[in-house]
Amino acid sequence: MNNMNNVILTGDRPTGRLHIGHYVGSLRKRVELQDSGSFDRMFVMIADTQALTDNFDNPDKVRQNIEQVALDYLSVGLDPSKVTIFVQSMIPELTELTFYYMNLVTVSRLNRNPTVKAEIQMRNFDSSIPAGFLCYPVSQTADITAFKANLVPVGEDQLPVLEQCREIVKKFNDTYGDVLIEPKAILPDSEICKRLPGTDGNAKMSKSLGNCIYLSDSEDDIKKKIMSMFTDPLHIHADDPGHLEGNTVFIYLDAFCEDHHFAEFLPDYSNLDELKDHYCRGGLKDVTVKLFLNDILQSVLNPIRRKRLYLEKNMAYIHDILKSGSEAARSIASETLYEVKKAMHLYGY
Ligand code: TRP
Repeated sequence: MNNMNNVILTGDRPTGRLHIGHYVGSLRKRVELQDSGSFDRMFVMIADTQALTDNFDNPDKVRQNIEQVALDYLSVGLDPSKVTIFVQSMIPELTELTFYYMNLVTVSRLNRNPTVKAEIQMRNFDSSIPAGFLCYPVSQTADITAFKANLVPVGEDQLPVLEQCREIVKKFNDTYGDVLIEPKAILPDSEICKRLPGTDGNAKMSKSLGNCIYLSDSEDDIKKKIMSMFTDPLHIHADDPGHLEGNTVFIYLDAFCEDHHFAEFLPDYSNLDELKDHYCRGGLKDVTVKLFLNDILQSVLNPIRRKRLYLEKNMAYIHDILKSGSEAARSIASETLYEVKKAMHLYGY
């Protein structure tokens, strides 16, 4: 990635605290990007407006989770002096851009978006789909283009939303002149990081399934969750040969374990391949592997939790960060809005 003219923007819907799936899927990478310095500007947005598109009847949940997500961000090491952290609803320019972009997309195209379609099915909306929800890819296009972001780190499930964003950008530029930038997605590096399964082995880690390990979980909760994790139903006695496929404990090790963890916590082995070999041969107890995973996760999550507990005592600081980040973001979005309205020959420009 070259240094110049890279504007990175990404975001999360504040519908719950963030968990270790978010950590390996995006947060860890964001901190790495932040510290790489290979960009001109990096924005991280708390997408409360988007969260309301399917939680319009639960505004308190969204409101409360703005703070929780902000705490999670700072606890994992996002640094407000390097990254602009802001709240979507504090930038009214985004709503105005959304309305102008709405003309550049057809209802049938919105209906065909595979991500939105899957989400509609998951939420059992049937025929009562809020128009705002169907249009969230248009609003996400506003989020991205308002900051002229060219790089958007997202999960694989968001690719169709980015594709739709690029279509809207092309249509805008063709119709009104070159103002907007077509963004590219940055995907997680490895397969495991794309989607960490739940502790019960379910493909998705989700609050409603109760199978998450949260960044804010206590040490005891983490241990309990790990000790009751799904492993290999064929590995009944320690001597039975074990299987790695679909074995959640080993999937988590793939995501978190580094060679130095062996020296620290399990010096009988020197790397994960050796441990896996022994498990597959037979003779290695599940509980040994679980305790090892517990040691690793505690060592990763302890400093995050400690920082969170410290920050929680000073919520005024969190609010200041969100306020100043949103002010800085708003001044950029309003410049883009100005260019957009001018290009569209709107009255007064
Ligand atoms: N839709 C994204 C998600 O659910 C969140 C989001 C909103 C976002 N606006 C964005 C992501 C802009 C990247 C860029 O994960």
